[in-house]
Amino acid sequence: MKQTRASRRLRPPAFEYHGAASGAHARELYCEAVSLASLASRHGTPLYVYSAAMIRARLDAFRRAFHSIPHTLCYSVKANSTLGILRLVASAGSGFDVVSGGELQRVLRVNRRAASKVVFSGVGKTAAEMELALRSGILLFNLESASELKLLAATAARLKKPAAIAVRVNPDVPAKTHPYISTGLHQHKFGVPIPQARALYAEAAKQPYLKVAGVSVHIGSQITDVGSFQAALERVADLVRGLRKQGHDIRYIDAGGGLGISYEGAQGNFEKQIAAYARAVLAPLRGLKLHLLLEPGRSIVGPAGVLLTRVLYRKTNRRKRFLIVDAAMNDLLRPSLYGAYHEIVPVSRKSRETEIADVVGPICETGDFFARDRRLPVVSEGDLLAILDVGAYGSVLGSNYNTRGRAAELLVNGAKARVIRRRESVQDQLRLEKL
Ligand code: LLP
Repeated sequence: MKQTRASRRLRPPAFEYHGAASGAHARELYCEAVSLASLASRHGTPLYVYSAAMIRARLDAFRRAFHSIPHTLCYSVKANSTLGILRLVASAGSGFDVVSGGELQRVLRVNRRAASKVVFSGVGKTAAEMELALRSGILLFNLESASELKLLAATAARLKKPAAIAVRVNPDVPAKTHPYISTGLHQHKFGVPIPQARALYAEAAKQPYLKVAGVSVHIGSQITDVGSFQAALERVADLVRGLRKQGHDIRYIDAGGGLGISYEGAQGNFEKQIAAYARAVLAPLRGLKLHLLLEPGRSIVGPAGVLLTRVLYRKTNRRKRFLIVDAAMNDLLRPSLYGAYHEIVPVSRKSRETEIADVVGPICETGDFFARDRRLPVVSEGDLLAILDVGAYGSVLGSNYNTRGRAAELLVNGAKARVIRRRESVQDQLRLEKL
């Protein structure tokens, strides 16, 4: 198959082939100024490699797109919570969206003062998690039920620490994404239907230690049709107008995350995508004086990460060809869990010939695959492959299935690469167990 120009360029400026276009020398895939092959030989595989420049560029693009309105980016920690990534995001001035006490502790570990820009979402916050968040002085609790409101009111009163709250509404708009990651329909567990939300605001206003401060919404993830965001925010804007009329001091709208990325082919023009997203989010909010909170995860880190893996064996069963690689579903679950597509490219592009193969891991499950019947450049045993766009929901979804250690993670910054998570050993895994 002919490779398009776009796919040869991959994910500029971070992931591009360097070297001679033809002739004896292979073209080598780089992350910024660092050869991925050199990182794999030094640190082993499977190996996550992230580009700091790309993460910074994406944060900047968000900021530029929303410059017309007071706003805070609250990077969604669940997308990639490795401390080195959080530190990079914090140093760019962003806040965080957390969904557990554990995620909040990660943020505090990186920068205690970042708590003032933390929003806490999720349907099942425990009293202990609320307590940690209250003591750390977070910006906003996104409440998702009447029972949760009651517990937060009691916890805040007990600690004598006021809590700023938003109700996360469920706007009942379809997000047109994978059903497992769509959250804004009434049959989903998330948020509160808008009529019920009004009652919750009335209840919150009666609580001495709760301070009504905002309205929040998040309709799902990997959403590429920006019309869904617009539809959700139109409903939110109506609610805000109504609440203000009733005397509630709504300062924040938290528009959630969810902006999708392009997993197939090149990344396209991010500036254009983000501008369209900003228009969809901002149009319904015109005329409302407010501070906008955004919780992007995937769109910040997704394209900024690759997973390097080595081909262990080639194998053919009848006419079916397999490339057995050293990464597996415990390292990257998205293909197995959602049937997600990730582009796979050779780190060293030697051959123009292609073949159709399945790329599979060593785990004892048929669901352990990265690609099925995929046309790929021909590679040999020992060659390296890069699985693209795994910066979000890659390492965080990792597990120890089959007693496999979690992969190491590196952050590249120009010509430098830093280990931000070392490879997990079997000793690391056994440490918590007793005979
Ligand atoms: N805010 C809330 C309340 C969320 O639940 C999420 C994601 C985000 C923000 C960030 O959304 P993003 O900008 O990353 O789309 N594991 C799945 C994705 C799960 C998303 C969960 N919530 C995947 O690999 O596609």
